[in-house]
Parts: sequence; C-alpha cells; structure tokens
Amino acid sequence: MKPLRVLVLVHPDLLPPESTKGFSEQQINEWKTEYDVVRTLRRAGHEVRPLGVQDELKPIRDELESFKPDVVLTLLEQFSGEAIYDQNVASFLELMHVPYTGCNPRGLMLARGKDLSKTLVHYHRIATPAFAVFPMRRKVRRPARLPLPLIVKSLSEDGSYGIAQASVVDSDAKLAERVGFIHERIGTPAIAEQYIDGREIYVGVIGNERLRVLPVWELEFGNLAQGDWPIATERAKHNTDYQERRGILHGPAKNLPPELVARIQRSAKRIYRTLELDGYARIDFRLAADGTPYFLEANPNPEIAESQEFAAAARHDGIKYVDLLHRILALGMNRAAATVSAG
Ligand SMILES: Nc1ncnc2c1ncn2[C@@H]1O[C@H](COP(=O)(O)OP(=O)(O)O)[C@@H](O)[C@H]1O
Ligand SMILES: [Mg+2]
Repeated sequence: MKPLRVLVLVHPDLLPPESTKGFSEQQINEWKTEYDVVRTLRRAGHEVRPLGVQDELKPIRDELESFKPDVVLTLLEQFSGEAIYDQNVASFLELMHVPYTGCNPRGLMLARGKDLSKTLVHYHRIATPAFAVFPMRRKVRRPARLPLPLIVKSLSEDGSYGIAQASVVDSDAKLAERVGFIHERIGTPAIAEQYIDGREIYVGVIGNERLRVLPVWELEFGNLAQGDWPIATERAKHNTDYQERRGILHGPAKNLPPELVARIQRSAKRIYRTLELDGYARIDFRLAADGTPYFLEANPNPEIAESQEFAAAARHDGIKYVDLLHRILALGMNRAAATVSAG
C-alpha cells in the first residue's frame, strides 16, 4: 500500500507510548490496540498521527485541515464518556467528507441496542436468546414466558461493562437486585436474557459489499472457580492476572462438524448484512449443547490488538496483522469513494 497520512482517533487516556518498556502487562493491556495499530502502520511507512479525543470535535476538525489525512482510523469507543456516541463521531466524519475506517453510523446504531439488534436478527430466523427490557425507574416484573436463569446486562454498554458472576440470576429477587444495579451504577436501561448454556463463539467479518468471514473462534474458560458461570465478565475480559489464573484463552473452535462451521459463518454474514455493518466486525454467539448457535451481539469496530480474537483469527486465516490494518484502511477509503460516485 502506498504511504498514507493516517489520523488515529483514540481516547486521551489510551494515547500509546513509544515503547512498552517499564509498563506492567495489565497497563499494556489498556492501550495495546492503540499501540499495535500506531506502531504497525508506522513501520509500514505511513505517517501516523494519534489524536486524543474526549468531548470536543474541534481538535479533529483542526487536524483534518492541518494534517490533511488520507483516512481517519477511529479506535474511539466513546465520546464524552458515552458509548452510544460512537455513531455521532462517525456521522461527523461523514459530514466532513473524510474517509474513515470501521462501521458507518447506521450500522453502529442498529448493532448498539442489545434488544434492537436481536429483534432484527430474529426476523431472519436466526436463533436469539429470549429477552425482556427493563427501563429506568420502572418496577421489575419478570414476564412468565421468560424462565430463570437469566443474565442481566446494560442495554447499550459494551466491553462487558457491568457484567460479573452476579449478572446471572436464578430468582426474581436477584433479578430485581441486578436490574437495580444496572440502572443505578451503569446508568442505562437493563436487558435480561435467557441464559444460554454453551460455548462462547466469536466470528470476525471484514468487508463492505463483498464479505470475508474469519475462522470460528472460541473463548475458553479453562479452570473457573467452583460454581462460576462460564461468561465473559469484566474481569475475564480485561484482567490479565485473572485470565492467567483461570486459564482463559482464545483460539480456533475445535471439534465442530464442518456443516456447523459453515452454518455459523453463514449466520455471521447474514447478521452483518442485516445490521447494515461495514468495515469490520465481530459477531458473538453462544453455541448451545444441541448445536444451535444463538446470536448474542454484533461488535462493529471490535478491538484489534494483535493478540486479540479478531486479529488472531485473521492471522490464522493467513492475513498478517499489517495486511489486516491495510484492508481496514482500504475499506474505509473505498466506501468514501463509492459514496461520492453514487452521490
Ligand atoms: N444470553 C446469554 N447467555 C449466556 N451468556 C451470555 C448471554 N448474554 C451475554 N452472555 C455472556 O456475557 C458476555 C457479555 O455479554 P454481551 O452481550 O456480549 O455484552 P458486552 O457488549 O458487554 O460484551 C458474553 O460474552 C457472554 O459470555
Ligand atoms: Mg460482548
């Protein structure tokens, strides 16, 4: 790829240092996506400018005018501390007519709500857990159609924010308590879903019109404490000591019949199209013991540190890390070109 000027938008706390020397594994874990992306693109000869973005658009606008990037690579997962504003940043870049990587605003919006995305996907006859939404300040009453155990989550947050062992509830009292926790501590409506007992399966998809689906990937919970549920809690996702202690590892999903692999991959592409995603995304499932893959959520713009699930699955499929980043840049630029010519 010819050398490009790349403006990389990151959370100001995650501006990566020049080197990982002197940082603990847990510290590196915080900004490893930002670090890997900036370093890899620089090594590939691009002019890369990371920009910390908190709650102002002006600095982005200034960089667009002074640095004149060929493409904006956005690693932002929030704006003003709000996860749901990711779509607004993409909308802003769209209005600025600058090519940007990752998903378009509409796809970000459709994928965001854990209720909306499931409703849309369910319409296409893909299995989804049954669920109920509990709005703020409303009495919690479990619908009769929804048997226990349930898992209680924020309706709109991601990154396992608010997910702990206590999220899985097996009584109405615990349900009410956990919904209250989401309302008060996370500050969003809650969703309670049928708990799907099964394997944790992730499928990466890359593309705008033509899609490439990555190998079926699995997060394995090696040796959980007695009585713990095998779920991706905040600790399981972000705490490197805990991951090590509990043998939490990801890799290619083993011992799946080829028909099932094909079915999961087809579903992942179908979901990607249904939710109008583009760029790159990771589609998450729980694979029940009877072989039914239940759609959990779609993650447009998933984390892409070299060691994480998405990049590892790409690598396994023969896409080197630098080539993955190049594809992501190219998809952003191609979409912009297609939009202009269509308009
Ligand atoms: N319906 C469910 N059945 C079983 N486990 C679930 C269910 N929903 C979520 N989980 C577990 O909780 C984790 C986080 O849930 P998810 O909906 O992906 O939220 P987030 O957006 O925070 O990642 C999942 O990766 C999975 O391990
Ligand atoms: Mg998730």
